[in-house]
Order: sequence, then structure tokens, then C-alpha cells
Amino acid sequence: MTKNFAHRGFSGKYPENTLLAFEKAIEAQADGIELDVQLTKDGEIVIIHDETIDRTTNGKGLVADYTYEELEKFDASYIYTGQFGFNKIPTLREYFNLIKDTNIITNIELKTGINEYQGIEEKVYNLIKEFQLEDRVIISSFNHYSVLRMKAIAPRIKCGFLTETWILNPSKYIKNYCVECYHPHFAMLTPKIVKELKTLGIEINTWTVNKEEDIRDMIAKEIDIVIGNFPDLTKKIIDETVNK
Ligand code: G3P
Ligand code: CA
Repeated sequence: MTKNFAHRGFSGKYPENTLLAFEKAIEAQADGIELDVQLTKDGEIVIIHDETIDRTTNGKGLVADYTYEELEKFDASYIYTGQFGFNKIPTLREYFNLIKDTNIITNIELKTGINEYQGIEEKVYNLIKEFQLEDRVIISSFNHYSVLRMKAIAPRIKCGFLTETWILNPSKYIKNYCVECYHPHFAMLTPKIVKELKTLGIEINTWTVNKEEDIRDMIAKEIDIVIGNFPDLTKKIIDETVNK
């Protein structure tokens, strides 16, 4: 059955990649949560989408130029000023503490596309091990070298290649590197590509699926994980489909 993952938490209604958005995703009964990680100047793993804090907080500058003590003073919900109070940029450790006693599966996207954050794969893996979450995480990245670095450090951890546009022979490409999952934008999931991936046993986890018709299409195609901004809507549609 298709699983329902909340993209950057319940980001359709709450400030993305905050503990509030993650709590709301759990409340909405999502099966999993997708989030983005980067490193601060002092090596803390923080959950934020962009390389800079400009878009999502009331501060400016690169994540990598701040220590965590400096970074946690900015409001990651300033776009919603007056609605949800102050919400800091969370650390991955804080997030793991939030979900450790739930059944939530976490898709950790390593944001290593522009800044490669040397050593981030090992740091993330060490934290996964500390919380014993090896069987409840999927690591993905648009930087496939970064995914392979993680695989080399942690062969047992499920990993996926993220793609934003068409690539040739995705099933062969993914199989060739012994990676378990493919994470394409949902528009790339033609029936032929889906069939090829399924034939080779590759898990298909797709994003960012927000509209009802697209969610229904992904369920009909038996996609493994649908990552979207509205986990409440995705849950409603999955439940309807199951109870038909
Ligand atoms: O991991 C799926 C999706 O989150 C990738 O795109 O830009 O939302 O991180 P983006
Ligand atoms: Ca992401």
C-alpha cells in the first residue's frame, strides 16, 4: 500500500521543517516525514531547506556561517508572523527525540547539492545509530556522490537517488549503484518507467504530490511513498481507496 509522507513536515499549513510542522504531521497520521539537513559552522546537523536562512527565517546569510547557538535565535516561522509564535530551526537530534517513540519513518534529504558539507554523511549516520533508527530512515540526495558516500559508510541504510528531471534508464542507473530507492519528481513516473523500476525491485518514492488527482494517480500506479505538503489530504485519499 502507498505510504503517506509529509514533505518538510506538514508544510502546507505550518512553517516548513520546524518541530511544529513535524508534530502536526504526526497528528495527521502521516506514515513518515521528509526533511532537509545541512551543517552549521560548528558542525551541528540542522533541519532547513535552503543553504541560506533568508527565505524561511527573519535572518540573512549562509547556514554554514553561523554556529547553532547563533542560528537558533532566528524565527523559522516568521513568514507566518502572529500565527504560530516563535519556532526555531531544529536540530536533527531534537527531531529524533520527537519521533523516536512513534512509528514514523524519516526520509532525510542530505542538502549537499551546492555545499557538500564534508563529513555530513558520517555525522548523520552516527546520530541514526545513537537513536537506533537504522530501520526507520531513508537517506536521499540530489548529489548522488553523497548518497554513495552514505552507502559506503552504512551499507544497511536504505538510500535513494533524487532527480528533478528526466534521466535515461533510471532503473538500470539505480540498480548499477546498488541503491534501493528512486526519488523522482512525480511527473517522471510514466507507466513504462514505473514498470521497469518495479521489475528490478526498486522502491519508488516521489514528490511533491499535493493535488488530489495526482495523489490518486500515484496510488493507482502503486507508488511506494507519496511525499506531499498535505498529509491530511493524502491520508483521506489513501483511506478511501483502501475502503472501496
Ligand atoms: O525529497 C523530495 C523533495 O523534498 C526534493 O525537493 O526542493 O523540496 O527538497 P525539495
Ligand atoms: Ca527535500
